[in-house]
Amino acid sequence: MEQPVDFARRERPRFYRELDGFLRIPSVSANSKHDGDTRRAAEWVRDQLQRAGLVVEIFPTPGHPVVVGEWRGAGPKAPTVLVYGHYDVQPPEPLELWETPPFEPSLRDGRIYARGAADDKGQLFLHLKALEAHLAIRGRLPVNVVVLAEGEEEVGSPNLVPFVKEHRDRLAAETVVISDSSMFAPGLPSLLFSLRGLAYFEIHATGPSTDLHSGAYGGAVPNPANALVRLVASLHDEGGRIAVNGFYDDVAVPPEETLAGIRALPFDAEEYAEEVGTTASGGEDGYTPLERLWTRPSCDVNGILSGYTGEGAKTVLPASAMAKVSMRLVPDQSPDRVAALLREHIDANGHDGVDFELVELHGGRPWLAPVDGPHFEAAASALERSFGVAPVLTGEGGSIPIVMEFEEILGANPLLIGFALPGANMHAPNEWFATECFEKGIETLIHLYDELASGQ
Ligand code: BES
Ligand code: ZN
Repeated sequence: MEQPVDFARRERPRFYRELDGFLRIPSVSANSKHDGDTRRAAEWVRDQLQRAGLVVEIFPTPGHPVVVGEWRGAGPKAPTVLVYGHYDVQPPEPLELWETPPFEPSLRDGRIYARGAADDKGQLFLHLKALEAHLAIRGRLPVNVVVLAEGEEEVGSPNLVPFVKEHRDRLAAETVVISDSSMFAPGLPSLLFSLRGLAYFEIHATGPSTDLHSGAYGGAVPNPANALVRLVASLHDEGGRIAVNGFYDDVAVPPEETLAGIRALPFDAEEYAEEVGTTASGGEDGYTPLERLWTRPSCDVNGILSGYTGEGAKTVLPASAMAKVSMRLVPDQSPDRVAALLREHIDANGHDGVDFELVELHGGRPWLAPVDGPHFEAAASALERSFGVAPVLTGEGGSIPIVMEFEEILGANPLLIGFALPGANMHAPNEWFATECFEKGIETLIHLYDELASGQ
């Protein structure tokens, strides 16, 4: 008798065509010029879910819409699985660095290149197809399923917490499955035990009321660009630690077994540096790169703007300067407390004649899971069935802001099963998703429903 995985294999060419159509929609949430496209992507997800057999509704929000699809045929006594993903993408710029245009998917060397191929349209699509395969072959699923697809993840999910609170009954689930992260290595799948949180700021420095001749005034008036880079430099000490008073007060030391698990993973620091194109890995003294990424907070300038940056030399003293600074957080840090500490740091490192203003952009809390329980076992079995090896447990340096809220508001156990590969260029030019992971990803998620049901 034909099984859902047989269906998925048979329908693969169509799946690729459909994914191509999804990836062609430039649903850039950060850019209001694309609001119509972002809306179209939501409708695309709705149509897919409807065709698969779910009951679907698009909810407007003050920002981009939320799509909710439901299949409750397993009955009120059966458990419910919530699937979460995002249909928005990061801006594709700088366009000139793409080998093929970001919204014209291109299949090369076993990879699909397009903005959103890995983060997260390609991975959200895997879930749509796993559901479709079950419903097409068996006419049912072994559990109730709710799909929640949002269009604002890449801008910090500003409207999702209120949405989840308002619809907590409808979204309530035992398990929430999210595919928006990476495998540990090619052929080696992983289940996440943690995500870092985020606190994102702009620091504005203003000095003279206008740009000035850097000879006629330089040396006698305060320069906000000089002051801002001094402030930025003061954020770290020589050993790479963040030099903001009180910053480490809430940093929890992970349990020894987590640290031992990290040490046991195959990882080569030199290869890592080579992969990113540097001569050495960086960061806080006394920690390995994986410990730095998964268990320690970080602070980075994401962008800096001031003065003349065009061709040649212009002798000018800028009137203002701005830096975008992000801090990745670990348990038990909170974005609000970190913002307050940074504000104190800025006040204490003031510079005569230059005003600093701190603007809080968005934040998200870190997440850390206990890595046992039937849902973890079900996911591990599903991954092993399709990849032929058991997954490793890993942390993640990136953030998915809503995960903590799913746990707290809905009481759901998060299961983070990512299928992107390291180096997939999420947020960068030439983002890609491996076809092997695409195919095995769909099969894993098909198996996951059976494994979750058999673990009841
Ligand atoms: N898919 C990523 C999270 C991620 C990044 C997982 C890298 C695994 C590896 C997600 O879409 C994302 O980029 N999140 C943002 C959140 C922010 C905008 C609040 C992030 O981490 O920068
Ligand atoms: Zn992203």
